[in-house]
Amino acid sequence: MKTIDDSAILSALLEAALDAIIISDHTGRIVRLNDSAATLFGYLAAEMEGQHVRMIMTDDMASRHDAFMRHHVETGEKRIIGIGREVVGRRADGTVFPLHISVGRAVIADATMFVAIMHDQTSKQIAEEAAIRSNRMDAIGQMTGGIAHDFNNLLAVVIGNLELLEMSEQTARNRPLIADALAAAELGADLTSRLVVFSRNSSLEAEVVSLNDSVTQTLAMLKRIIGAHITIDAELADDLWPTRADSTQLQTAVLNLILNAQEAMPNGGRIFLETRNMLLDDSYVAQDTGVEKGRYVRVSISDNGEGMSDETRQRALEPFFTTKASGSGTGLGLSMVYGMVKHSGGHLAIYSEVGEGTTINLYFPALEAGDEQQDVDATYEDALRGFGAGKVILIVEDDPRVMRLSNTRLEGLGFKCLTATTADAAWTILKDRSDIALVFTDLIMPGSLSGHDLAQRIAEQKPGVRVLMTSGFSEGVLRGGRISAEFAILRKPYRQADLVQALRTALQDV
Ligand SMILES: Nc1ncnc2c1ncn2[C@@H]1O[C@H](COP(=O)(O)OP(=O)(O)OP(=O)(O)O)[C@@H](O)[C@H]1O
Ligand SMILES: [Mg+2]
Repeated sequence: MKTIDDSAILSALLEAALDAIIISDHTGRIVRLNDSAATLFGYLAAEMEGQHVRMIMTDDMASRHDAFMRHHVETGEKRIIGIGREVVGRRADGTVFPLHISVGRAVIADATMFVAIMHDQTSKQIAEEAAIRSNRMDAIGQMTGGIAHDFNNLLAVVIGNLELLEMSEQTARNRPLIADALAAAELGADLTSRLVVFSRNSSLEAEVVSLNDSVTQTLAMLKRIIGAHITIDAELADDLWPTRADSTQLQTAVLNLILNAQEAMPNGGRIFLETRNMLLDDSYVAQDTGVEKGRYVRVSISDNGEGMSDETRQRALEPFFTTKASGSGTGLGLSMVYGMVKHSGGHLAIYSEVGEGTTINLYFPALEAGDEQQDVDATYEDALRGFGAGKVILIVEDDPRVMRLSNTRLEGLGFKCLTATTADAAWTILKDRSDIALVFTDLIMPGSLSGHDLAQRIAEQKPGVRVLMTSGFSEGVLRGGRISAEFAILRKPYRQADLVQALRTALQDV
């Protein structure tokens, strides 16, 4: 057998490893690393070599590391060596992320070296958090379901007896008292029935429905209730796949969402309803946690109202969670919608920005199966490697996770990427360069410039540069406001194929 020299094997090993590998000496200096390690931390390998490992640690981790090293050098005790553990890492852009690390010790040419093998735990953590949330909702569901069931029975007795009393009551003085008691008991019954929907104990009359019909009927019903300060528009796909749901509850759900939207816009605004067929693939599922792959029909209800804070968004689906003054809201609206969607085998996703608005997406599984489309997509993507042909794209995005995803996707398509985390920073980059073909910007950005301001400034001062905006809000609600029609908007979350299509249009004849 031909002998292969050890250093070639070492290089191959480092190259081939999917996990990040960093070799450091006893002072903590990085002696060698693989490309996976550089990519994981957002550096070039050359930028890390020779540096102290502190560069990839949070301050807290770094001081623990130093203390361990001192202890180890003094006593020879191997506290973390040989045991894997969960720590946090720090990327070049300052963001921190969960990491699994295992460290081994080796002596190379009389010097003690440490070999660290690291694995990104971000997606595992997201999945765990989603599971905890969903377990929590299940537990609340079981409890409320039990209470609601018993209360329903008690209320049935109260209502029945009050009705008998009302019929037999002769004195005019007692009639209003009975009427009040009846009204309150009926309100109670209404509440418990909504709780039952949330807890998924009710028997849903699942039938094959056209979501468009349900939305249209709800809209007709609402015309009188919605104030004149609110405009409602709808864009309903005409080739919508059929789905299975309880049509009465579906209408109640849409009604609840529209009322919430109206309540979020006390000074008026726009509500936009949209139905669409959606094919959710891996790239999509990566952006919207809690959604599984497959074919869905999506109903989106958007408003340009006050939006939700992070805390509100996290808790909005819980029964009895409300930000309304006590006595004016039950906090059961969204939990009822959530229960109904889950019961239909679907998903509910909230997208919201404070001061900008909210989009609630309901996904219902489409009835007919079929995966021919997915195969088409795969070959389509294959054919598109190199589509970017080295053109330079400036990505403007404040969410580091979305930024990384966009960066990876666009580079995969053959673009060269520059990045900026605010529109102001993007403009500083743009001003002095002439090689940027397109700016791909999030619409809502921190700082003095929004994505839309940036787009307008580019149109005025850098007309050669194309702009593609992206937003979690549906176009319908944005267009009615201040967003001019001259810029294309790609709706988040989007599939790779949607991104390519939008880029192709934006880059036409460049
Ligand atoms: N479109 C929206 N825009 C902003 N915040 C919203 C929106 N929809 C819901 N929320 C927030 O979520 C909370 C819970 O909504 P939910 O519909 O469950 O209860 P509610 O509207 O407060 O009460 P009820 O529906 O019983 O009148 C609201 O109090 C509000 O803070
Ligand atoms: Mg509500």
